[in-house]
Amino acid sequence: MRFTVLTSLLTLTPAVLADWRIAKGREIEYSSVEGFFLQDNSSTDAASFDYANWNFGLVNRTYTTDPKHKSEGFKDGYKTQWERFEKYVDHLNRKAPKDTQYKVLVMGRHGEGWHNAAETYYGTPAWNCYWSLQTGNGTANWEDPLLTDAGLREALKANAYFKSRFEDHGMPPFESYYTSPLARCVITARETFANLRLPSSRRFEPVVKESFREGVSIHTCDHRSSRAYISTLSPRISFERGFAEHDELWTGDEGETAEHQLARSKAVLDDVFVRDDATWVSITSHSGEISKLLTTLNHRAFRLSTGQIIPVLVKAKLVREEPTATYVSWTTEATCHAPPMTSISGQGCVCSGTTTLASTAATATA
Ligand SMILES: *[C@@H]1O[C@H](CO)[C@@H](O)[C@H](O)[C@H]1NC(C)=O
Ligand SMILES: *[C@@H]1O[C@H](CO)[C@@H](O)[C@H](O)[C@H]1NC(C)=O
Ligand SMILES: *[C@@H]1O[C@H](CO)[C@@H](O)[C@H](O)[C@H]1NC(C)=O
Repeated sequence: MRFTVLTSLLTLTPAVLADWRIAKGREIEYSSVEGFFLQDNSSTDAASFDYANWNFGLVNRTYTTDPKHKSEGFKDGYKTQWERFEKYVDHLNRKAPKDTQYKVLVMGRHGEGWHNAAETYYGTPAWNCYWSLQTGNGTANWEDPLLTDAGLREALKANAYFKSRFEDHGMPPFESYYTSPLARCVITARETFANLRLPSSRRFEPVVKESFREGVSIHTCDHRSSRAYISTLSPRISFERGFAEHDELWTGDEGETAEHQLARSKAVLDDVFVRDDATWVSITSHSGEISKLLTTLNHRAFRLSTGQIIPVLVKAKLVREEPTATYVSWTTEATCHAPPMTSISGQGCVCSGTTTLASTAATATA
């Protein structure tokens, strides 16, 4: 087992790079500000919700900053919901004390990859304890997999929807774009933001951040490709400082614990909030990782299907630094050396040549 001491990322940030200078040596506490998106309302069902039916979930409401008179308006005499929301968020930031800032994080899960198709095809237990450890099955390849046709269509749907929001609904384009290093995310981001008419300061220029990747299990789908390969996947792509040429986290022997994933999800958000003064931020990531980001943001659980997107209005406030904590960061996972004889949904799989149930963590992949 490998142990990690949770150190505050802020102490690693050189002061000259920190846009949010006073964050140095302090802890950032996050909350999602409720009442602006349908997804933060407990009566919204995540499983059936589709952003494309609901203007990404932006609630129809008034804001204290709304124009008083119709003549100040824009479309049909009125500003759109997105324009009025943008103005309200700007107001929140202008009025906020120096230790507080607001961002709108719009988080998208990648479209369906070959590993998702294989999990559906083999069933989750057989996938988790045997097939996920292989790199493919002869016809499909799922080590750092690409998108299936269905996954590509999900990204094209997002592209058309963003186009309509930007061009007809006054949604502000993003100031920053981040993506997980896994190919399915880089490709999803590339297709989602391709061929949009964006102002030059808000062009799609994705930045790869290691810690937006999926929980690192022993599955081959969590094994990222080299930096050189990733850099071929999208135009104008760049990497965060210190991004390694080869994957230094995936070993195929041990998986990351939930505690480790949560801690690095907090650290990557801290990094974005300290270094990047953008308000409108796009993040392309994974089901499990977006769940961890939502937990960090104190947002309710909202599980995304492939290709789904969730916006969150985030308030970040500086508080006194907490003492560091120690936890187990990597642990072994149960597997079989051959295809399992039976798959018992929700329980695990019975390995060939044994009669005992090899318990396997019921971690959903992404
Ligand atoms: C949540 O949604 C329900 C049903 O649409 C609505 O009645 C309620 O006011 C909403 N709650 C909040 C806090 O917006
Ligand atoms: C807001 O109102 C518009 C126009 O009536 C409607 O199309 C849209 O679905 C509404 N959005 C939400 C989130 O309720
Ligand atoms: C391999 O897995 C894919 C799903 O990813 C499935 O469509 C295909 O039929 C499988 N091939 C074989 C030979 O079982």
